[in-house]
Amino acid sequence: MMVNLDDFRQAAQRVLPRFVYDYVAGGADDELCLQRNRSDLESMTLMPRSLRDTTAASTHIQVFGRTWSAPFGVAPVGLIDVVRPQGDKLAARAAGKAGLPYILSTASNSCLEEVRQATDGPCWMQLYVMQDRSMADTILARAREAGFEALVLTVDVPVGGYREKDLRHGFKLPFRPGPRVLLDMALHPNWLRRQAWAGAPQFVNLVPAGGAGSAQAQAALLSRTMDRALVWEDLNWLRSKWDGPVLIKGVLHPEDARLALHAGVDGLIVSNHGGRQLDVAPSSMAVLPSILDVVQSRLPVFVDSGFRRGSDVAKALALGAQGVFMGRPVAYGLAQGGEQGVAQVLDLVRQELLRAMILLGANRPETLADCLPVPMRG
Ligand SMILES: Cc1cc2nc3c(=O)[nH]c(=O)nc-3n(C[C@H](O)[C@H](O)[C@H](O)COP(=O)(O)O)c2cc1C
Repeated sequence: MMVNLDDFRQAAQRVLPRFVYDYVAGGADDELCLQRNRSDLESMTLMPRSLRDTTAASTHIQVFGRTWSAPFGVAPVGLIDVVRPQGDKLAARAAGKAGLPYILSTASNSCLEEVRQATDGPCWMQLYVMQDRSMADTILARAREAGFEALVLTVDVPVGGYREKDLRHGFKLPFRPGPRVLLDMALHPNWLRRQAWAGAPQFVNLVPAGGAGSAQAQAALLSRTMDRALVWEDLNWLRSKWDGPVLIKGVLHPEDARLALHAGVDGLIVSNHGGRQLDVAPSSMAVLPSILDVVQSRLPVFVDSGFRRGSDVAKALALGAQGVFMGRPVAYGLAQGGEQGVAQVLDLVRQELLRAMILLGANRPETLADCLPVPMRG
């Protein structure tokens, strides 16, 4: 029975081969950042406000002129088809039907145009800038043409994180599974059948213009050639290619929030990539107050990394975040039940959030700020 998000995690652990589950669930190095994301969220409390009329409690918010049915959405997750073929489209469709936003990864396995078609909800494009900037140019042009509403520039992957579980499983591209992994695959026949039917996932948005390119070549492109010369001034270049809102994902330092304001970005996603990149990084929740302090409501500030409950979302909102994104829980939903699984995951979080708001005496996401423990108020 699926009662909370951890049930979906456990179901995913059962239905996926170990190397796939570990690819999704794992973090960098010693996974300390991964753990900090959870422990910092868990240690925070909220103070209920009593005798407030919550008969009209609503989770709806407005972001960039669109209504979201709740203040959370789907974070970009690359290579999702190893979990479930067509995963990008299935998850986008579930998010759209739930009235929630979806961010598509540069490293998606479905064409960005098809994913945009799959949802009429808010749909944003995530961008990795590789050394060959013409690839970013192409993605930007295609995403604009397809009707993506905002651009999310991820800045915390100048180089891939050191994911030891992936290394131990030999899960790297080109993928040449050893006997242990082959056996594991054989022991998950439903997963294997779907994968065999769909064929090896391709990074379809990275195929160089006019070229075909194998998944391996595309992966090499993605992993080896991130543009480490990308700096704040380059946002002008990005701006010249994109006229909609630009958000930066992966900012943790308050000084970088100041630079982002100066550079004229339209929003921030405070994130440590779910603990998959820099293991010594602080949790997103630990730095969120200092970033909000710099931003002073001039931009919407979102946050991700470790959110697993509606009440976790309430905590970020109480601090002043506009909304929250979730990565792994959506992948677990896909693994367990495809589009339906994602729909259930999103619905669970929305219901949990609404219940938390009512218990806290908050009619609207904004009024959650009244529930901060006294020493945490600004
Ligand atoms: C399997 C996996 C793949 C990811 N791929 C991307 C990606 O392509 N681009 C990106 O900006 N973030 C990527 N992320 C990071 C997520 O967008 C998000 O920051 C993170 O998952 C949030 O933490 P959570 O999984 O605890 O919710 C990925 C995360 C996971 C788990």
